[in-house]
Amino acid sequence: MQNQNTPSGVGGKNVLLLGGAGFIGYNITKYLAENRNYTLTIADNFARGKQDDYFKELVEKHNIKVVAGDFTDPATFNQLDEAYDQVYMLASVVGVDNANSIPHEIIRINTALIFNTLEWIRRSKVGKVLFTSTSECYAGTIEAFGYTTPTPEEVPLCIQDIGHPRFTYAVTKMLGESGFLNYARILGFEATIVRYHNVYGPRMGFKHVIPHLVVRYRKNEDPFKVYGHDQTRAFCYIDDAVMGTVLAMEQPGTNGEIFHIGTQDEISIGDLIHYAGELMNYKGTFENAPTYPGSVSRRCPDITKARTQLGFEPKVMWKEGLKITVDWYNEYLESGKLVYE
Ligand SMILES: NC(=O)c1ccc[n+]([C@@H]2O[C@H](COP(=O)([O-])OP(=O)(O)OC[C@H]3O[C@@H](n4cnc5c(N)ncnc54)[C@H](O)[C@@H]3O)[C@@H](O)[C@H]2O)c1
Repeated sequence: MQNQNTPSGVGGKNVLLLGGAGFIGYNITKYLAENRNYTLTIADNFARGKQDDYFKELVEKHNIKVVAGDFTDPATFNQLDEAYDQVYMLASVVGVDNANSIPHEIIRINTALIFNTLEWIRRSKVGKVLFTSTSECYAGTIEAFGYTTPTPEEVPLCIQDIGHPRFTYAVTKMLGESGFLNYARILGFEATIVRYHNVYGPRMGFKHVIPHLVVRYRKNEDPFKVYGHDQTRAFCYIDDAVMGTVLAMEQPGTNGEIFHIGTQDEISIGDLIHYAGELMNYKGTFENAPTYPGSVSRRCPDITKARTQLGFEPKVMWKEGLKITVDWYNEYLESGKLVYE
């Protein structure tokens, strides 16, 4: 019987994190560095994941190898070793703002980095790959067909409006899911998919709802517009997302499987915004407002499969995680050492 909620990895593995300087990748690397005796390599172009003080300290303290390069260029992969036991594939251009403003770049970059990674694996020795996907892949199924929420992994994936820029990101993630599962089957490596659901925490950049809120509260916006107030989401604190991811990589029986990683702690955006306001000691007024077009009205993963097959159990309740995150962003913004947009 595996230790519940703690992956059972043994020492000595060679592990690569593509996009490992980013929000989730940095935290997976930190967890592995502190809890495993692995040889770790982070590869990234540092477009979004930055070589900030946190990154430098982690890399130096644990002797982590760093490879700088753009995965849209196949030559970047020549800098890597020939064999890895585990590869975490986290690299992607993310964010609704990017999808809406540079959809052609989302298509170009995300398809190229998925394709180049798959073709590099073809000529290398890789034991297992974990590809990071998103709940956005099934958002259209919920909206168009009223599919059940909380939503399990077998939900059919669907794009509601194929020409809408917002959905370019989900299109490339669907390609990734299909690409990794099918290359793995044919070429003989193992592959597992995780679909993240609203992961948040310190050092996540500023292109997410919670850092946006902190910035807006600090400007003392009044009235404070509560965009999408009645929409619901289940927010997953980064430590829980890391645990789910490492379990999906390391637990036996996960090859070829997809896991929804998140929490079932579903709250309204209004709840989130009002509590963030309390934490920020906001005394102004609130005004409800509509949200981005294409934004799903309800989102919550069914994590029964991750619970039963991985022993995954999220531990951080949203109010606790939100406080840690809001405090971190306030401190960061006051530090003057601003690295993130
Ligand atoms: N954070 C979430 O809530 C969430 C939700 C769903 C899916 N995901 C997925 O999880 C993964 C990690 O997300 P994150 O929040 O850490 O994002 P992130 O933007 O912080 O990390 C992605 C990393 O990929 C790197 N990268 C991008 N393009 C690259 C390129 N061409 N070459 C090399 N490196 C490149 C970036 O510099 C960055 O460090 C992504 O694939 C994302 O799509 C995240």
